[in-house]
Amino acid sequence: MTISPSLLSLLACPACGGDVAVGEQENRLACASCGARYPVIEEIPMLIAGVDCDHMENQFQRYWDSPEKAALYDQKVEGDGDPFGVYNHESEIYALETCLQERAPGMLLDAGCGNGRFLSRLPASTTGVGVDASLNLLKRTRDHGRGQHHVCCELERLPFKPGVFDTVISCRVLQHLHEQERAVGEMARVLKPGGEMALELYNFWNLKTTYKAIRQTPWLRRILNAPFRAVFNSMSPFDDWGLDHDLYNGWFQVKGWMRGFGLAQISGRGAGFGYHKYLFQPFFIDAQWLKRAPGSLKRYYQGCFDFEKRWFHLAWFRWTGEKFVIWGRKQG
Ligand SMILES: C[S@@+](CC[C@H](N)C(=O)[O-])C[C@H]1O[C@@H](n2cnc3c(N)ncnc32)[C@H](O)[C@@H]1O
Repeated sequence: MTISPSLLSLLACPACGGDVAVGEQENRLACASCGARYPVIEEIPMLIAGVDCDHMENQFQRYWDSPEKAALYDQKVEGDGDPFGVYNHESEIYALETCLQERAPGMLLDAGCGNGRFLSRLPASTTGVGVDASLNLLKRTRDHGRGQHHVCCELERLPFKPGVFDTVISCRVLQHLHEQERAVGEMARVLKPGGEMALELYNFWNLKTTYKAIRQTPWLRRILNAPFRAVFNSMSPFDDWGLDHDLYNGWFQVKGWMRGFGLAQISGRGAGFGYHKYLFQPFFIDAQWLKRAPGSLKRYYQGCFDFEKRWFHLAWFRWTGEKFVIWGRKQG
């Protein structure tokens, strides 16, 4: 087992915060304070509190944890040539990168890095650390050569010492968490004083919240789908949402959390409109448009992106856009 000393020097036990070191057993890290043991799988440490080293098959039950889901996510998240997907990917990256104010060399944590699409864009002077609860996505990140270090862990209990990162970013992860405020607190804890944090989050105050609520309510879904099925037979704009837990945030809610954890100078911008996928795809508008006039569909999305670049710094769009990026600097 090889874990670089530079990574080891950052790590802490997610259960008690104690120092972790290479354990006596092969492929294990151990906490010097509480004695907890953590597996290292294919060189990736898995620092999840309560992890059962001897029954790893029980650890990966979540939606995106399987190798198949990870492969699909990896293929789709950067657009996979689909005009909407490419625009969505570029818009998310643009919003996050525009909000990061300094590109000082140092350590950057991508909290919930997925396939590492942000880590792939870091300058050589930045050391990228990718963490994610999905081991299979982390393996993909590493195999793409994105980021220097990879740790499988949960945002709610980050296995790092306090104040070790110059920058912490997280994109579209918070909505999956049950303890969102705790995760924001953890990201602030591992940030150095003077360091910057940027979170890209789904916005509660976008029409998509209502649409999602309908799709998460079976009886409402059935009623609202009925006319579409009667007329078009197969069309289903209100099919099952697919996720039971998908909790969006408001700008002022997260701003309050960040302030409470010692961040200041808070600013940000909006990202995305929140209707394209949900209006266009169920009615096959995208598919028909792409078939008949692909150039104009691409120009349409380019126009949307240009509009975002020009106007989404305005408060209205950060309050009502599909997503918002919220940025802050740690005091001290
Ligand atoms: C929608 S994806 C976003 C991935 C990446 N940030 C991006 O923008 O491409 C959400 C990611 O959060 C990760 N995730 C979900 N719950 C998590 C948790 N509690 N701790 C760490 N990562 C988590 C998932 O494995 C997944 O990679």
